[in-house]
Amino acid sequence: MADVLHGVDEMKAFAHAQRAGGRRVALVPTMGFLHQGHLSLIREGRRRADAVVTSIFVNPTQFGPKEDLSRYPRDLEGDLAKCWSAGADVVFAPTAEQIYPAGFQTFVDVTEVSQGLCGARRPGHFRGVATVVTKLFTLVMPHVALFGEKDFQQLQVIRALNRDLHLGAEVVGMPTVREADGLAMSSRNSYLGPGDRRRALALSRGLFAAQRLAGQGVADAAALTGRVRQELQAEQLKEDYVELVDANTLRSISSAIRGTPARLLVAAYVGTTRLIDNVAVEA
Ligand code: PAJ
Repeated sequence: MADVLHGVDEMKAFAHAQRAGGRRVALVPTMGFLHQGHLSLIREGRRRADAVVTSIFVNPTQFGPKEDLSRYPRDLEGDLAKCWSAGADVVFAPTAEQIYPAGFQTFVDVTEVSQGLCGARRPGHFRGVATVVTKLFTLVMPHVALFGEKDFQQLQVIRALNRDLHLGAEVVGMPTVREADGLAMSSRNSYLGPGDRRRALALSRGLFAAQRLAGQGVADAAALTGRVRQELQAEQLKEDYVELVDANTLRSISSAIRGTPARLLVAAYVGTTRLIDNVAVEA
């Protein structure tokens, strides 16, 4: 197959033909500049479905006015080669005009899990994510859709909208793929010069250190978040947030982990580049 589709009508026609033929469809939404994290989702989609659709769309509505939309890295030719080698059948690469034609005025707002964390620091971000993912689910009608735990809050936002709007996909969360030294893979890592690349390791180093502390029985939220802050401070990185939350509701755990699955999340600036990462913690 190996086809690139640019229009929403073509995308819909492909999706309907798959359903009519009784084939299972997997969707992997991305903003391109693909790395091994993205490719792990495509490979898993390949295992779970008969047809794998990867979308590549730098979605303007999820970027704030002072964010990096115009300089977000792009490489469609390179991305296509990676998609085909990972097993995608179709790449959906629409223009912004296809997705947001003049007069567009409908948005999807996931009210609870969008609050706090990145939702508090990037107003409107998850509204943009939820809107574009709802559109992609509507166009592609996937049986299964794959997302990374790297963007843990985003994954919970998508689980909620899929459930609340009866979109009927199975939403699969996949583990974070890391560089050999621990840095979570991200398209935004391409912004980092060699010095900042090294300093960026403070995020994963702090999270893993806190995870080990929890494994030794330290359940106290301040101790665990403090351990991450210690690593950020050692590299003089500016913290955006460090928070321990209930992994399902994303509500802050202010005292100590008790029974429920917990997640420790960090966002920090390495120079002007904002990076995020997170791990599961169990005391
Ligand atoms: P993007 O940042 O390109 O990520 C696309 C998908 O790849 C997301 O599900 C993300 O969680 C996953 N991903 C990114 N880095 C990963 C890593 N190191 N390991 C595993 N998975 C990883 O997230 C978006 O795009 C957009 O918000 C999108 C959902 C496409 C909506 O515009």
